[in-house]
Amino acid sequence: MAATSQSRVRAAPVVVDRAALLAEVLAACHSPSYTPPVTPAVGMEVLAMARRPDVAFQDVARVCEKDPLVAARVLRVAQSAYFSRGARITSLKDAIVRVGVQTLAELFLAETMTTRVFRAPGYDAAMSSLRRHSAMTAHIARALAAPMALHREHAFLLGLLHDVGVAAAAYLVGTRVPFATAWPTILDAHAEAGKILCRAWKLPAEVEVVVAYHHGGRVGGTLHPSACLVGVAEWIATEIGFGLDGEATPPRPETELRLLGIDDAVIAAVTVDAKNVAARIL
Ligand SMILES: [Fe+2]
Ligand SMILES: [Fe+2]
Repeated sequence: MAATSQSRVRAAPVVVDRAALLAEVLAACHSPSYTPPVTPAVGMEVLAMARRPDVAFQDVARVCEKDPLVAARVLRVAQSAYFSRGARITSLKDAIVRVGVQTLAELFLAETMTTRVFRAPGYDAAMSSLRRHSAMTAHIARALAAPMALHREHAFLLGLLHDVGVAAAAYLVGTRVPFATAWPTILDAHAEAGKILCRAWKLPAEVEVVVAYHHGGRVGGTLHPSACLVGVAEWIATEIGFGLDGEATPPRPETELRLLGIDDAVIAAVTVDAKNVAARIL
C-alpha cells in the first residue's frame, strides 16, 4: 500500500541500500539544523561535580575523557573569543581551566535539554566499543608522544576525538534502519562526518586533519605526523582488544612507524603501559 504522507514515508524503515544511506548521512551532516549529541550520563556527572566547592579541574577532566563528544564540546566553547581571549587552547585541561567548572556544568545542562541524544536498540555494545576504543587510543597516543615534540596532552585529545565522526554519523542514521544495516554505513561515513563536525565546531585544524585522515595518515598524498601518530595508537589499541566494533584489524602501519621513529621496543613498552590502564577504561 502506498504511503499517504511525507512523514509516513520518512518513518518507514525502507532504506537498505548502503550507498544511498551513505549519501543521506553525508547530506544530513551539512544540514544547518544538525545538532550533535552529548551523552547525558557524563553531563549529569559534571553537573554533580560542579556543586562541590572543592572540585578539582583534574577530576572534571577525567569525567570528560569518558566521552569524545563532550570533550569536543568543551573545546569548542573554550576556543570561543569570549573564553580564550586569544589564548591557544589545545588540551582538555586547558579548556576546563579556561571555561570554569560552573559554566561547564551549565553548558552540559543546556546541551542535555536541547539536544536529541542518540539512543537506539542494538547500538549499546557498538557505542560502548567506540568509547573504549577512543579512550584507549588517547592513552596510547599520549604515551607515544612523550619523546616527540607533540605535546602529550594534545596527543591525548587527538586520540580521544579521532573517531568522533562515528557517534555523529550514528546519530544521523538513528533508527530508520536496523543496526546491522546502519553500522557499516556509519563506519563508511565517520571520517567525513567527523570532518564536518570539526568545521562546524571550529575545532583546531589539526584535530580536523586527524579526524578526517587518521585512516592512512595522508593528506593529499603527504603523511601527516599527528594523523600517523593516532593511526599507530589505534593500531596498538586494536591489537590489545580495544578495536572499534565492525572495523577490520588494521595491518601493522610500517610507513607511519618509520616516519615517527617508533621501533619495536617503544611499541612493547607502550603496550605494557596500555594494558595497565585498560582496567580503568573498561
Ligand atoms: Fe579509530
Ligand atoms: Fe576511524
